[in-house]
Amino acid sequence: MNKEGVKTYLVTGGAGFIGSNYIHYMFKKYGDTIRIINVDVLTYAGNLENLKAVEDRDNYTFVKADITDKEAIAKIFAENDIDRVVHFAAESHVDRSIRNPEVFVQTNVLGTAVMLNCAKAAWELPDGSFKEGKKFLHVSTDEVYGSLPDDENAFFYETTPYDPHSPYSASKASSDMLVKAYMDTYKFPANITNCSNNYGPYQFPEKLIPLIINNALQGKKLPVYGDGKNVRDWLFVEDHAKAIDMVQEKGRLFETYNVGGHNEKQNIQIIEIILETLQEMLPEGDPRKAHVSKDLITYVEDRKGHDRRYAIAPDKIKAEIGWEPETMFAEGIKKTIAWFFENEEWMKNVTSGDYQKYYEEMYK
Ligand code: NAD
Ligand code: DAU
Repeated sequence: MNKEGVKTYLVTGGAGFIGSNYIHYMFKKYGDTIRIINVDVLTYAGNLENLKAVEDRDNYTFVKADITDKEAIAKIFAENDIDRVVHFAAESHVDRSIRNPEVFVQTNVLGTAVMLNCAKAAWELPDGSFKEGKKFLHVSTDEVYGSLPDDENAFFYETTPYDPHSPYSASKASSDMLVKAYMDTYKFPANITNCSNNYGPYQFPEKLIPLIINNALQGKKLPVYGDGKNVRDWLFVEDHAKAIDMVQEKGRLFETYNVGGHNEKQNIQIIEIILETLQEMLPEGDPRKAHVSKDLITYVEDRKGHDRRYAIAPDKIKAEIGWEPETMFAEGIKKTIAWFFENEEWMKNVTSGDYQKYYEEMYK
């Protein structure tokens, strides 16, 4: 923290979906009393358009760098007195990890090791303790816990053993283990959050909800994997951003907190809700009203190793920190759809070029 009490945040992956929502949330909440340095290499999932509204702020800096590049990351720590690291940067899509696992190990495992090493080097004192007030938050996923049975009383807790199945979740589990090792070995000041499925503005349309919204509006088929009855626990992204901030400020160091919405739904239910909400929100006379319908639903081959059910019990974060989800799904999905209506250019831009190639290859 500098003399004026301004904390400096190093956010990795801030040009992605959750990272950019987090940056907007933090500036809305703290204004000029924080500084944010956003380091992102801008993969297909990173988009500086997401941050247009903050890019001219004096207390925001973007650095294009790869988190696996030790020198680039060490330089950021050397040139800035970083108080908080919030580590989002990752390869995040399960289907891509099934096709090309290597980059997931590279970014998610090696990249996390580089982030931890650079923070440790910058924050460690000669006696092995750490400078006061420094904190690292590793943003992880509920997928590390594996899959739950079709039983509405079964939940993931912080004590649930790790059992990842996809290359993505295995790489995130490995990165969590590295953070745990740093906390256990060096007393490195960190927390881990394991969150359920997010949805909201700026989500890349390879993920279920924006893909369904985009396809339905264009009258394209809506691909449902397997029987459509896999369950995910959906959380509005701003609630996740709030949880991350609350854990970092109020959580006990070295602890893991599960973050979830208590909003478990089958994929097919999600698709039906989206179709109904689109019908409700599209104005009379809009030509898209004619093709937004259940007729577009198309059952396709199942995802390999498809986890059946995820559901978080957010008891610990509620009891210790007072966080709970605020946005009900009916409201969150309306906000999300309204955002996509208002940002048609954004969708056009991200679905041009490489996205087309990915889509054709993935859904052929
Ligand atoms: P995203 O794919 O939208 O964004 C990832 C960002 O990281 C992009 O901006 C990308 O350019 C950047 N990035 C990728 N590789 C990088 C590298 N080597 N160096 C620097 N930057 C790099 O992902 P997201 O959905 O916003 O997820 C963010 C984090 O939250 C991930 O760690 C993910 O595992 C975790 N998470 C996501 C969800 C979810 O539902 N999306 C839920 C729980 C946890
Ligand atoms: O649980 C948290 C995780 O949620 C995060 O760690 C990941 O980064 C994030 O991508 C997400 O993973 P999922 O695999 O659950 O999300 P996705 O949107 O890819 O899929 C949600 C469900 O919808 C899943 O059961 C697969 C199914 N699905 C997905 C797509 C893209 C379909 O049926 N059809 C599709 O076309």
